[in-house]
Amino acid sequence: MNVLGIESSCDETGVAVVTLASPATAGAGTGAGGGPIVWPRLRAHALHSQVAMHEAYGGVVPELASRDHIRRVLPLTDEVLAEAGLSRADIDVVAYTRGPGLAGALLVGAGVACALALALDRPTLGVHHLEGHLLSPFLSADPPEFPFVALLVSGGHTQLMRVDGVGQYALLGETIDDAAGEAFDKSAKLLGLGYPGGPALSRLAQQGRGDAYALPRPLLHSKDLDFSFAGLKTAVAVQLRKLGPAPTDVERADLAASTQAAIVEVLVRKSLDALKRTGLKRLVVSGGVGANAALRAQLDEATRKRGWRVHYPELSLCTDNGAMIALAAAMRLQTGIATARPDYAFDVRPR
Ligand code: KG4
Ligand code: ZN
Repeated sequence: MNVLGIESSCDETGVAVVTLASPATAGAGTGAGGGPIVWPRLRAHALHSQVAMHEAYGGVVPELASRDHIRRVLPLTDEVLAEAGLSRADIDVVAYTRGPGLAGALLVGAGVACALALALDRPTLGVHHLEGHLLSPFLSADPPEFPFVALLVSGGHTQLMRVDGVGQYALLGETIDDAAGEAFDKSAKLLGLGYPGGPALSRLAQQGRGDAYALPRPLLHSKDLDFSFAGLKTAVAVQLRKLGPAPTDVERADLAASTQAAIVEVLVRKSLDALKRTGLKRLVVSGGVGANAALRAQLDEATRKRGWRVHYPELSLCTDNGAMIALAAAMRLQTGIATARPDYAFDVRPR
């Protein structure tokens, strides 16, 4: 079974095909029923990033994003099918991101997916964007096994979850204000770095000292698994004001490194707390901030000491992509928790 996946929730158009070898249900992917589970295989994926287009505005302009998705999605679909050696008729299910994301951008992906499915007389399946991120490490060379703790760190979300199988997600904690990605992006903006801020800030941080400025670690010692990052950007703004109108390159690099150190310390501590509380030994990290090298290094070190494992998606699949949407749809179908339907009256869920 070939599942086409279309992602258009924000500023990347992503299309992919995955092939499901064993459509037998397997107890929500827990391995119940015996034998190792063969998860769907990625056949091809293609991505167009709109970063260059939005850069001039310092952030994503929703209207421009929607219009660009319209331009890209069909050519990317043809590209992916050609790379996989498939024709449109070989598509068995058309999956798309139903939300969360920008309403207009989501409508483009959903509309094209449903029109394509209607024309081909195939069923459709809407997918939750975060489930795509959550399951994306199953496309890596070293996929995790259930159960695990998931740290989902994207531009809009910061959540810790207990994951017992496909569709079996229990929220352990989440941010009460800004997401970790937002903390990176907003601090980067204050430092005069471009958009998206996360990668830019982490590059500048490489040249600085993480202990140069004492920035707050919000909720580090709270008894729950929640996060709060809104105060951090305020602290960065205050520190910048103290440095005066023209901070030196060293001061800017030190502030970037100190900001990153604060975010990473909180993410690592809370992830370890979640593992301790659940008694689980596997951590899965996904979403754009999961690409951060400092976060990966510190999580690897902290977990290795304790004999725990961390799984990440391939670096190229940390940020938004179509592969994770096709995969999440295929895993839902494989485990029997969702059915693709000839449902072309699509809806999207921005929030
Ligand atoms: O998952 P994603 O691509 O989109 C959402 O679903 O939000 O995440 C984007 C976020 C942005 O905030 C971006 O700045 C951040 O991930 N990000 C990073 C890095 N790469 C992307 N943050 C820190 N370090 C990185 N290397
Ligand atoms: Zn995302």
